[in-house]
Amino acid sequence: MDLISYIDSKREDHLNELKELLRIPSVSAKSEHKPDIERAAHWVAEKLRAAGLEKVEIAPTKMHPVVYGESLQAPGKPTILVYGHYDVQPAEPLDLWTSPAFEPIVRAGNLYGRGTADDKGQVHIHLKAIEALKNTAGKLPINIKAMIEGEEEVGSVNLWEFMRQNRERLKADALVVSDTAMLAKGVPSITYGLRGLNYYQLEITGPSQDLHSGVFGGAVPNPITILAETIAKLHDKNFRVEIPGFYDDVAALSREERKALNALPWKEKEFRKTVGAPALCGEKGYTVIEQLWTRPTLEVNGIWGGYTGEGAKTVIASKAYAKLSTRLVPNQDPVKIAKLVERQIRKLLPKTVTHKFDVLSTGKSWVAPYTHPIFQKALHALERGFGKKAVFIREGGSIPLVTQIHDTFKVPCVLIGFGLPDENAHAPDEHISLENYFGGIKSIALFYEQLAAA
Ligand code: BES
Ligand code: MN
Ligand code: MN
Repeated sequence: MDLISYIDSKREDHLNELKELLRIPSVSAKSEHKPDIERAAHWVAEKLRAAGLEKVEIAPTKMHPVVYGESLQAPGKPTILVYGHYDVQPAEPLDLWTSPAFEPIVRAGNLYGRGTADDKGQVHIHLKAIEALKNTAGKLPINIKAMIEGEEEVGSVNLWEFMRQNRERLKADALVVSDTAMLAKGVPSITYGLRGLNYYQLEITGPSQDLHSGVFGGAVPNPITILAETIAKLHDKNFRVEIPGFYDDVAALSREERKALNALPWKEKEFRKTVGAPALCGEKGYTVIEQLWTRPTLEVNGIWGGYTGEGAKTVIASKAYAKLSTRLVPNQDPVKIAKLVERQIRKLLPKTVTHKFDVLSTGKSWVAPYTHPIFQKALHALERGFGKKAVFIREGGSIPLVTQIHDTFKVPCVLIGFGLPDENAHAPDEHISLENYFGGIKSIALFYEQLAAA
C-alpha cells in the first residue's frame, strides 16, 4: 500500500489512539499530576517503539522525564531531531469547558480536549507519520532522533541539563518541531521566527500586616493602589513600553521582510473575531502582524492582593502581587531586558513601600533565514499533504528549545505547525481541526519520505 492510502486507512485507529494520550492529565505545573506525567511519558515511549525507534528511554530529570528514542538504520541519509512536549497547561477554569478537558470528543470536525493542539495532537502526528513510513517501506528511510519533553509549559527548566549530557547524541542535520499554528485554515505554514520570553514576579509590601481600612485608611500606603499605578506607567499612550532602553537593541525589519509579512493571506477581520474585544490596540506605527511577530511587548499576566472573596471586607492589604512578562525580538538580550524592567519598576515605586522582584525565566527570540534546501522540501510536502499553497510566517509565541538547539548546533530548525490561532491553546475548549491533524500526518510522512529520496 502507498503511504497516503495507508494513512487514510488508519484514520479511526489514529484518532482513537490520540484520545488515549489526551485522557492522561499530564499537567506539568502541578505536583499532584506527577503520576500522570509519568504515565504520559511511558505512553509516548511505547508509541515511539511502535513507530520503529529503537533505544527508547525515559530519562529522569530533576522534575519531569524526557522521552528519547532514535533509529539510525539509514546510513547516508539525513538525521532529523524531532522535538515536542507531552505536558499540558492546567485545564482551569473547568466550568468554561463545553465538555470535560480530559475526555476528548469530536464536535463539528474538531477534536476537543486539553493538549489537542498544544502539543499532544501534534506530537502524535509525528509518531504516526514515522510509523506509517516504517510500515509501508519496511524500515525507516531516514535517521530519526525524537526528544519529547514534559516541562515545556513550565519553561523547559531541566531540559538544558539533558541536552548538555546528551550533546553528541542529539546531533542532527535539522530540527523539526510541530508546536506552532498555521496562519489560517487552509494555509499550511512554516514558522521561521518566534519571540523570546522573560517572566517576572513582583511583590509589593506596604504595612507590615493587613489593616482595618476605616481605622487606618487615608494615612497609610495601599500596596494595591501603588502596584496599579506602577503598572499603568509601564506603557505610554501609544502603547509603547515606557522602560528606558527597552527598544535600544530591537532590530529593524527589512523592507523586503515587512512587505512579505504584510502580503500574507491574513485577515484582520478574522483576527478581530478570534480576539472578541470591542476594539484592538497596539504599538502605534506597526500593522497588527508586525505588532504580533516583530515587536517586543510587556504584559501583565496576573495581579492579586487584598480581599477577593464574596461580599465586602474593608481592608488595606499588606501585600500586592503581579506576574509580568516581556516578549522579546532580535536583538534584545534577555538578561539586559530583565535588568531594565527591574530598574524602572524600582524607580517608579514610592518610598512608602518595599518590593521584591524575581526573574522566573528568561529566553531569547529566534529568527532564522529559510534558505537551506530542507525548507523547500518541507514546503512541498505541506502543499502535497494539504493540496494548498504553503507560506512562511513568524509567530509571537515562544519555544525555548528552538533557540537553544539553533544556537548549539547551528542547524536549520523547521517549525511546521498544525494548530490554528483560534483553537484555544492554554484556554477552555482547546481543540484541533481533524483536517489539520490528518493532513499533518500525511505532510510529515511525505516530508520525511522526500528527505530520504534526496
Ligand atoms: N506551543 C507553544 C508556543 C507557541 C504557540 C508558539 C503558538 C507559536 C505559536 C508553547 O507550548 C508555549 O505555550 N510556550 C510558552 C512559553 C513557555 C516558556 C511556557 C509561551 O509562548 O508562552
Ligand atoms: Mn506547545
Ligand atoms: Mn503551550
